[in-house]
Amino acid sequence: MTRKRVAILISGRGSNMSALIEATRAPDYPAEIVGVLSNRAAAPGLATAASHGIATASLAQSKFPTRDMFEDVMTQTLESWDVDIVCLAGFMRILGADFVNNWAGRMINIHPSLLPLYKGLHTHERALADGATTHGCTVHFVTPGLDEGAAILQAEVPVLPSDTPDTLADRVLGQEHRIYPQALRLLASGQITSLV
Ligand code: GAR
Repeated sequence: MTRKRVAILISGRGSNMSALIEATRAPDYPAEIVGVLSNRAAAPGLATAASHGIATASLAQSKFPTRDMFEDVMTQTLESWDVDIVCLAGFMRILGADFVNNWAGRMINIHPSLLPLYKGLHTHERALADGATTHGCTVHFVTPGLDEGAAILQAEVPVLPSDTPDTLADRVLGQEHRIYPQALRLLASGQITSLV
């Protein structure tokens, strides 16, 4: 079995990144994590990745005159790792259309809502404010429209009357860690492909 070479893009904690790294330890897992790139040098996930012997890079968009230049260097970094698939895992920058289109069908994201509900930020607060009784997370292909690409897997959780944004986020995060490795397995094994 040839394993697909995967890079993970993060901005912070990296718990989804850790779930993906853990999944790739299974001998039959069809992907390996070859690099982790952060747009924040202080992202705790970078040290976690390094502790697993994974190549890391940090690139601050503010150091580049334009977003295109920042994304060109990201592409060069990913190419230097010979990446097949990119996983966004808490990467909190909106990516430009050229970068996204370059990775069409090969870049996926985890989002903390049942898309198409609650695109963008503060999903747990918004679900609670709406009085939603269910909430959840989605792994989807990345397309130029924010959080708009086709869903690969979703997981639903109940919203409890006692929930705060933090307790709801924790419940959703547990499901994120379960479905992200499953979705990457589907893509890396060729069991699912994007039509766009
Ligand atoms: C996760 O809940 C992820 O779904 C969310 O950020 C968190 C990152 O946590 N992503 C987004 O909101 C993307 N719009 P992690 O760094 O521990 O994986």
